[in-house]
Amino acid sequence: MLLLCLESSCDETAAAVVRDGREVLSNVIASQVDVHARYGGVVPELASRKHLEAMPVVIEDALERAGLSIEAIEGVAVTRGPGLVGALLVALATGKAIAFARGIPWVGVHHIEGHALAIQLEQPVEYPFVSLIVSGGHTHLYLVEGVGRYRILGRTLDDASGEAYDKVAKLLGLGYPGGAIVDRLAAEGDPEAIVFPRPLLHQDNLDFSFSGIKTAVLNYVKRQEGEIGGQHLKDLAAGFQRAAVEVLTAKSLRALERTGLRRLVVAGGVACNRGLRQSLQKAAQAGGFEVYFPSPLLCTDNAAMLAVAADAYLERGGCSSLDLNALAGWPL
Ligand code: KG4
Ligand code: ZN
Repeated sequence: MLLLCLESSCDETAAAVVRDGREVLSNVIASQVDVHARYGGVVPELASRKHLEAMPVVIEDALERAGLSIEAIEGVAVTRGPGLVGALLVALATGKAIAFARGIPWVGVHHIEGHALAIQLEQPVEYPFVSLIVSGGHTHLYLVEGVGRYRILGRTLDDASGEAYDKVAKLLGLGYPGGAIVDRLAAEGDPEAIVFPRPLLHQDNLDFSFSGIKTAVLNYVKRQEGEIGGQHLKDLAAGFQRAAVEVLTAKSLRALERTGLRRLVVAGGVACNRGLRQSLQKAAQAGGFEVYFPSPLLCTDNAAMLAVAADAYLERGGCSSLDLNALAGWPL
């Protein structure tokens, strides 16, 4: 089945064409980062307006890159939630309109489900596996038994990991979103020069807490006289990254231990983090398990990732009804 996939849950407007839930023919992303950067975070109202402008453009681009016209599309996949409701509505309404006008089926997909299954577009991973979802809005561990079969193992009790990265970047004056900048600085710093707490590390659960690390960074910064720059800034970034990565690694290992599984799939924007990749790859070698990371384009928000679940649902006849609404909060 040839699917047109649409995503607009946060600050990326995305469209993709995917064949049979496997073959990505195009995956187009229009980022609004520049629009929101000057406010230091996503402004929901601005996001909705920008999605409205960008959506027809990314759809045309995705079709053109796939070498197809809209007549060739056999089904539509849309992110139904969670996310900013005004933003979600843009992809949802567009997807419904296309499906209605063309008389083809459509389906609303969970954003996290998209992230969790994105790896299948690049290298098929056998079910079941443990999924670590690390993004700006989420930090979760799931047991993924198959498409539509997810069991939550653990989650952040406060900030998401990407959110902590972005807040640390902001308080260091590094701009928004700053996760990738902190990652780059950390690569040149000494991770043991400044030691930050590892919240919940030794607690016998699979939950996370990142607001404490961020507050420790804030308190450290407040104690310094003058601006932090040069090697000091790199050491601070490295110290923060070491704390965050150590907790993410330890809890992922515990999830594998508890489920008895040997496959870990990492997804979401923070899955681009070099420190996290290195740490989990090292742990995988030492612990004899497999760790999988999608390429950066499939880690961050994109529309192609929706196709894996959507194709399976539509094959089973799970077409959504036209009165389906977006869900700002939606547990998976
Ligand atoms: O998955 P994503 O594109 O959007 C959400 O669903 O949230 O993730 C965006 C998040 C942002 O917080 C961004 O700072 C973070 O991923 N991020 C990174 C890196 N690249 C992106 N965080 C740490 N290291 C990176 N290299
Ligand atoms: Zn996301």
